[in-house]
Amino acid sequence: MQPRLELLYTVYTMGQLKELEQLASLPPQIALAGRSNVGKSSLVNALAGRKNLARTSASPGKTRSLNFFHVLPQNYCLADLPGYGYARCSKAEREKWAKLINAYLSSMPKLCAVALLIDSRLPPQDPDRDLAAFVFANRLTLIPVLTKIDKCSLRERAQREKEWKSILGLQAAASDQIPILGVSAKTSVGLEKLWAIMHQIAQVDNN
Ligand code: GTP
Ligand code: MG
Repeated sequence: MQPRLELLYTVYTMGQLKELEQLASLPPQIALAGRSNVGKSSLVNALAGRKNLARTSASPGKTRSLNFFHVLPQNYCLADLPGYGYARCSKAEREKWAKLINAYLSSMPKLCAVALLIDSRLPPQDPDRDLAAFVFANRLTLIPVLTKIDKCSLRERAQREKEWKSILGLQAAASDQIPILGVSAKTSVGLEKLWAIMHQIAQVDNN
């Protein structure tokens, strides 16, 4: 059965984040993180089977808040984060988002995993490597997800998987690792596998 997604909370400020942290009723969460334009919000829409639940754009920097989508009936949240590495907004704005994302990823109770979204067409980038290291340092589960797989050749995909296996293998014990998934918001490839992994992680954390 296709889960239902509903927007539950939107967080723009540190004050709102602190309030959310104190909500005892907040369900466990899985964050969708990655560089601007990698396809985080499009993935939320594809997972929901809806076009405009999360706002997307062809130009980077569309998502400007932390958006928590309730997954029902499983009862956990997907947190769609603003992208990092977006150069066209002001430095002050960039720093504000970075601070908010860092605070969320390092201190939110019931955050059980981070799906690191990686553009399948690009070789590994430093900000993605840094985020993976940050996730491991915070003892969170990492779900590596290659996005826009519809635009990537099989050869390119194999190359990406090899590169990321090697990077992640250096950062965590093999037993901690989840396979590198390839997804497309356009063709829906990989979505069922991603749901299965997320349900499993959220449920493990619920117990
Ligand atoms: P920010 O909110 O700026 O951080 O971006 P985002 O990561 O949420 O990206 P968004 O979902 O807004 O998508 C950016 C662009 O990539 C849009 O033009 C999408 O249509 C396109 N896109 C996203 N996913 C896919 C995909 O699986 N395949 C293809 N071909 N295009 C995609
Ligand atoms: Mg977005």
